Amino acid sequence: MAKSRLVGLCYLIFSLSCLSYSPCLSCPEDHKQALLQFKFNLTQKPKTESSTDMPTSTLLSWNSTSDCCRWERVTCDIYSSSQPVIHLNLSALISSPGLVDSGALAPLFRIQSLIELDLSLNAIQGEIPAEQFLNFTGLVHLNLSSNSFTGAIPSQLFQLRYLEHLDLSTNLISGNLSADVGLLTNLKALKLDENNFVGEIPVEIGNLTQLKVLSLRHNRFSGRIPTSVSHLRELHVMDFKNNTLSSAIPVEIGDLRNISTLSLSQNSLTGEIPDSIKQLGQLEMLQLDANSLYGEIPPWLFEMEALKRLYLGGNKLVWNNSVKISPKTSLSGLSLRSCGIVGKFPDWLSSQKELNFLDLSYNNLDGTIPEWLGEMEIRILLLSDNNLTGSLPPCLFESQKLSILDLSRNDFSSELPDNLGNATNLIILLLQRNRFMGSLPESLSRIQGLLMLDLSMNRFSGDRFPRFDINASLSYLDLSFNEFYGDVPMSFGRNIIVLALGLNNFSGSLPENLTEMKSLEHLDVHGNRITGEFPDFITKLWTLRALNLRNNNLNGLIPDALSNLAGLRILDLSGNQLIGKIPPTFGSLTGMTQTPKGLALYSAIEGVAASLSEVIVYVNNGMLVIWKGSMQILPSSMIYLYSVLDLSRNRLSDQIPSSLGNLEGLKTLNISYNEISGEIPSSIGDLKNLESMDLSHNRLSGQLPKSFARLQQLSTLDVSNNELVGQIPEGGQMNLMNDPNSFADNSGLCGAQIQVPCPGTSPPEVSPDLSENDDKGALLSWEMAVVGYPIGFISTLVAAYFAGFFRLRTPEPRHQYNHCCQQQK
Ligand SMILES: *[C@@H]1O[C@H](CO)[C@@H](O)[C@H](O)[C@H]1NC(C)=O
Ligand SMILES: *[C@@H]1O[C@H](CO)[C@@H](O)[C@H](O)[C@H]1NC(C)=O
Ligand SMILES: *[C@@H]1O[C@H](CO)[C@@H](O)[C@H](O)[C@H]1NC(C)=O
Ligand SMILES: *[C@@H]1O[C@H](CO)[C@@H](O)[C@H](O)[C@H]1NC(C)=O
Ligand SMILES: *[C@@H]1O[C@H](CO)[C@@H](O)[C@H](O)[C@H]1NC(C)=O
Ligand SMILES: *[C@@H]1O[C@H](CO)[C@@H](O)[C@H](O)[C@H]1NC(C)=O
Ligand SMILES: *[C@@H]1O[C@H](CO)[C@@H](O)[C@H](O)[C@H]1NC(C)=O
Ligand SMILES: *[C@@H]1O[C@H](CO)[C@@H](O)[C@H](O)[C@H]1NC(C)=O
Ligand SMILES: *[C@@H]1O[C@H](CO)[C@@H](O)[C@H](O)[C@H]1NC(C)=O
Ligand SMILES: *[C@@H]1O[C@H](CO)[C@@H](O)[C@H](O)[C@H]1NC(C)=O
Ligand SMILES: *[C@@H]1O[C@H](CO)[C@@H](O)[C@H](O)[C@H]1NC(C)=O
Ligand SMILES: *[C@@H]1O[C@H](CO)[C@@H](O)[C@H](O)[C@H]1NC(C)=O
Repeated sequence: MAKSRLVGLCYLIFSLSCLSYSPCLSCPEDHKQALLQFKFNLTQKPKTESSTDMPTSTLLSWNSTSDCCRWERVTCDIYSSSQPVIHLNLSALISSPGLVDSGALAPLFRIQSLIELDLSLNAIQGEIPAEQFLNFTGLVHLNLSSNSFTGAIPSQLFQLRYLEHLDLSTNLISGNLSADVGLLTNLKALKLDENNFVGEIPVEIGNLTQLKVLSLRHNRFSGRIPTSVSHLRELHVMDFKNNTLSSAIPVEIGDLRNISTLSLSQNSLTGEIPDSIKQLGQLEMLQLDANSLYGEIPPWLFEMEALKRLYLGGNKLVWNNSVKISPKTSLSGLSLRSCGIVGKFPDWLSSQKELNFLDLSYNNLDGTIPEWLGEMEIRILLLSDNNLTGSLPPCLFESQKLSILDLSRNDFSSELPDNLGNATNLIILLLQRNRFMGSLPESLSRIQGLLMLDLSMNRFSGDRFPRFDINASLSYLDLSFNEFYGDVPMSFGRNIIVLALGLNNFSGSLPENLTEMKSLEHLDVHGNRITGEFPDFITKLWTLRALNLRNNNLNGLIPDALSNLAGLRILDLSGNQLIGKIPPTFGSLTGMTQTPKGLALYSAIEGVAASLSEVIVYVNNGMLVIWKGSMQILPSSMIYLYSVLDLSRNRLSDQIPSSLGNLEGLKTLNISYNEISGEIPSSIGDLKNLESMDLSHNRLSGQLPKSFARLQQLSTLDVSNNELVGQIPEGGQMNLMNDPNSFADNSGLCGAQIQVPCPGTSPPEVSPDLSENDDKGALLSWEMAVVGYPIGFISTLVAAYFAGFFRLRTPEPRHQYNHCCQQQK
């Protein structure tokens, strides 16, 4: 009795001591030391001086006096007598890139008992440790995603045969995916998204029969989706002869019977969609978009009852328009972008009541948008680049879910419905290049979260605009190429980054409260009837990168202080009535000398993409220019790389300031049709990136500077209609400038290029063969008769995949059809 009480007491003391601090329940000393060493390693700053934003705040509990099993992010195995560390969640400890090298992980490999290691979101750089991983014989869960690991996957990883979750996505890992991956037969999730893998997907993937998630998105995998084409071909032939069901035969992808997510999008895969996919009875998500797959889209895809998301767009796949689909699926996401769907809006889609995301852009749909589509409460609806006509069903906008609507480049012709603003969760609305008309519904301003609004190239009219809250989110507004008139509208809030109002009939002077737009990067008001003196306040729009005031009625002087706009890369003031001289201060337009930084708009868009969780927004922007009379889209990558100074068709006088020679980033310089006199400064020869130079129709005199021969990129030159004399410089690109019209109407130019012998020189030789260079010229030279405006800056939302975010924002149950739609029925 006493003995048992004593035992009880001891037990009590024992437990108490374990609850406070204890030798009895503490983790193994070597594990503690390893973790402390690791923590120490993290606090060591490598060469770079970037301040550590890591551990001082995190891992505070990791100190040498406490039990490491009680530390944050550490889990020990309480069922084992030695209490070894088994889980380490070291996710998101470090955010500054370049702060931690993979070598710092070394101490962790001394903890052989680890079952789960999460190092995601840490900006760790360097190769994935190799040999050391062999220590983790029992590892089940390894997450190295969102770091900067480089090199190939070390083969040692494939020997961790208990691995069930392997996530290496969003790193810089390269090389082939080894066939050894087939050894990891316990894998349930393999995620290698967003790396630089090349080569074929090994057929041995088919060995991973436990896989639920296989995600290889956004790499450069090529070849076919592994199916029975390779080493199992013989089996297949036998099977064929025997006439038994092929489902009995192991065929790689088709053998992954448990797979629910198969994501291979954004690679370079070819071939047809393998039939074996039919056998994947658990498949919920099939992402094959943005590859080079071809062949017919198999109708059996729509008989896969488990399938929720099917993304096939952006391949060379074709839709069989004569096949009648009666789906057994209940899809929530469908992309059939550019699949050659012809005719009326596909009726069978109305059976897909769960649809959240629908991308049918770049097909040949015609007719109107059916009413039932409006009832479906789709969140992301992308129908651009079809031939859809008529008006928009108002019930489309009664949805509180609609977030992104892209109807660009169709043939809609109607007014916008008054209830547009009822879609209060719209973020992006793109209606570019249709025949929409009428004024903008006032209700638009109720959409507080609207970020992008592109209404360009329609027939909208009127002088009244929705009045947005001053703090509205709208960042991108393109109203260009419509029939608006009246004062330049300023009622869209102050967060605008891109404001494109070109080719309307706006009049009056530019409003001074443009200076309230503290992020304005792109201001395009060209082709309107703006009057008054060149506004001084423009020099306070610090954030500007592109200013296009072409073809208006501005007069007065160009302010010297315009050169304060350090980011300006595109300045087009042509076709006004500006007088005075070209400000010599232009030589310090640093934006035209330097490589540009990122565009704030991208950050804004990326922000949206991030907040939409899985949403991937492919930005396919372009800038419209008119080149040799026809419209061209300047490739997106060039928009702000393309630096332009166009002051043509004004009444500018005085001389060309020699400081212009500083603008080494310039690709186009146009000062034609002015009254500029004097000699051309030889510093112009320093514009080493210049591709096009037009100095024609001025009063320039003297000789062409010899330095022109240094313009290595020059492909278009026009100095005609001046008072120039002497020899046209020779050497470099100048030898190729042989169009007599470019030198015509001067006071005595001579040279081999125009076959006019100069006094005292030998007769000109036959000029070199230029055929090759003519082509080059045509490609390189954007003789920017018009520096455009960003028509369709984001012209295409190729695909958007969505997940939790929407469900969080709009938790209401589905199938709640709109009142307006029900009434209409
Ligand atoms: C170590 O951490 C524990 C909490 O885990 C804390 O109670 C103790 O004061 C810390 N010791 C030192 C020396 O910082
Ligand atoms: C890991 O720890 C971080 C920070 O404590 C936490 O946000 C995250 O949810 C944890 N992850 C898991 C899988 O427990
Ligand atoms: C981390 O610690 C290990 C010792 O366990 C050492 O070999 C390694 O060089 C350290 N790495 C860094 C980056 O401090
Ligand atoms: C593997 O673990 C053992 C035991 O903790 C340790 O001695 C050894 O250094 C570890 N190997 C590596 C490469 O870290
Ligand atoms: C890996 O970590 C990332 C970021 O913490 C998380 O999103 C992802 O789901 C994890 N992967 C697995 C397979 O658990
Ligand atoms: C396939 O898995 C088995 C174990 O189930 C293994 O023995 C074999 O080596 C694996 N084959 C390949 C090609 O990886
Ligand atoms: C590995 O990648 C290279 C491309 O770098 C490719 O030529 C080769 O075929 C790939 N090997 C396999 C097995 O896919
Ligand atoms: C599918 O998963 C279940 C458990 O979820 C497992 O029992 C079964 O073996 C798996 N099927 C295959 C073919 O591996
Ligand atoms: C044909 O299939 C049956 C059952 O699957 C099998 O028993 C038989 O051996 C097969 N015959 C040949 C010639 O392969
Ligand atoms: C739209 O229809 C016209 C004829 O009505 C046709 O010429 C044009 O190619 C079609 N455009 C698209 C994108 O289908
Ligand atoms: C939708 O918009 C119309 C017209 O603007 C308005 O009369 C109606 O009340 C709105 N409906 C809802 C539910 O807000
Ligand atoms: C500009 O001023 C008008 C009123 O004068 C005002 O309605 C508008 O919101 C202002 N815009 C900005 C961007 O400050």
